[in-house]
Amino acid sequence: MNQKDNKNDHMAAYWMPFTPNRTFKESPRLYNRAKGLYYETSDGRQVLDAFSGLWCSNLGHCHPKITEAIQDQAAELDYATAFNFSHEKAFDLANIIAEQFPETLDHVFFTNSGSEAVDTALKMALAYHRINGEGTRTRLIGRVNGYHGVGFGGISVGGMVNNRKFFGGLLTGVDHLPFPYDAAEDAFTRGEPDTDPMKYLKELEQLITLHDASTIAAVIVEPMIGSAGMFVPPKGYLKKLREITEKHGILLIFDEVITAFGRLGEANAATYFGVTPDICTMAKAINNAAVPMGGVIASKKIYDTFLDGTKAGIEFFHGYTYSAHPLAVAAAIAAQCIYKEEGIYERVRNNIKFFEDGMHSLKGEPFITDIRNFGLAGGLTIEQRDGVIGARSHDFFLKAYEHGINIRTNGDTIAIAPILTSSKQELEPIFDILKKTANDIQ
Ligand SMILES: Cc1ncc(COP(=O)(O)O)c(C=O)c1O
Repeated sequence: MNQKDNKNDHMAAYWMPFTPNRTFKESPRLYNRAKGLYYETSDGRQVLDAFSGLWCSNLGHCHPKITEAIQDQAAELDYATAFNFSHEKAFDLANIIAEQFPETLDHVFFTNSGSEAVDTALKMALAYHRINGEGTRTRLIGRVNGYHGVGFGGISVGGMVNNRKFFGGLLTGVDHLPFPYDAAEDAFTRGEPDTDPMKYLKELEQLITLHDASTIAAVIVEPMIGSAGMFVPPKGYLKKLREITEKHGILLIFDEVITAFGRLGEANAATYFGVTPDICTMAKAINNAAVPMGGVIASKKIYDTFLDGTKAGIEFFHGYTYSAHPLAVAAAIAAQCIYKEEGIYERVRNNIKFFEDGMHSLKGEPFITDIRNFGLAGGLTIEQRDGVIGARSHDFFLKAYEHGINIRTNGDTIAIAPILTSSKQELEPIFDILKKTANDIQ
């Protein structure tokens, strides 16, 4: 272990993801166990999980039905060879998922994470055009500040600078649309801003004119912007995006890694917005994050093109050893049952207005320069200190943890994503602690 390793020697070996290792290991935050809405820390404190883990534990932690399903599955079939073999429950789950997406989306490919789902979706789009006789369609279009995981495909179409700048040339032939939110006009909007969506989409038309549609494979966007700090595109943005892409034969991919399974009070954002893309990704809440899992759902047109357009043998040269892993599938079937049987999406819909009011009750508290809300997701912007990006919002995050809630910070933003089973009474302390936190930082 080298000099930079600190007094907590047993912590030196683990190189933590998306974490300042130096400061974390000086003052670690460890969760020992979790139940329902709460984590228990290693020093025995209860922390209210106001971020559903990482946008993923939508049904609360250690749900007994999910735990039991995983335990039973581990004892019955721990692993089924994923290529040229499978297991019955994988097909059951694909049907359960397909039922919940708009009708034309009906073929599900399983992955182990959101990042893998994104790279799968991009490869699917590229291969589709080639098999369809339009092999010149190779360009991909993402968005400034977009987050699509950490694979090379995902960071190429993604638009968060620190996730890109260290990693070389990335994929070639990628463009980015503008970030569809302007704090100068949209700050403190409840839900979707009223801004004309063409303010942000005319650039797509310009890119089509510049490159010609025959070179463009797909546009990928997060329907609701999560990782950049929870931002909401203007009303009509996704409908307009669908119109433009459809007109030019460009595939539209919704990255639904955080919006699928309840965050907006529907099974997915495509259903919520009434806009049907060609491909959707999913992950996280698919199985309440109890076992790593992701997936991609594609339209019949895409699936049929692969099957009809390839002569024999494998149609899509892609897959993972753990695609449709039996434990992940068992957890997902249990989670999907709970979403349905306990009416979770409806419960979310009933709490959206209360959550919106709670978030906007923070207006006027120190350092809060913007408040956003959508479904059961909230975003704050925290005024920078001394021109250092994230300095004060990181303090906000730490202080909130000290006061007993788990939230997320990125740059100058704070994001809130309560567990979807929370009652109004259980949401209330989140706002109280956020207020207290804003008043306790410098
Ligand atoms: C929209 C979106 N896409 C992809 C990912 C990556 O998912 P994972 O961390 O499971 O690879 C995330 C993660 O937060 C996400 O929000």
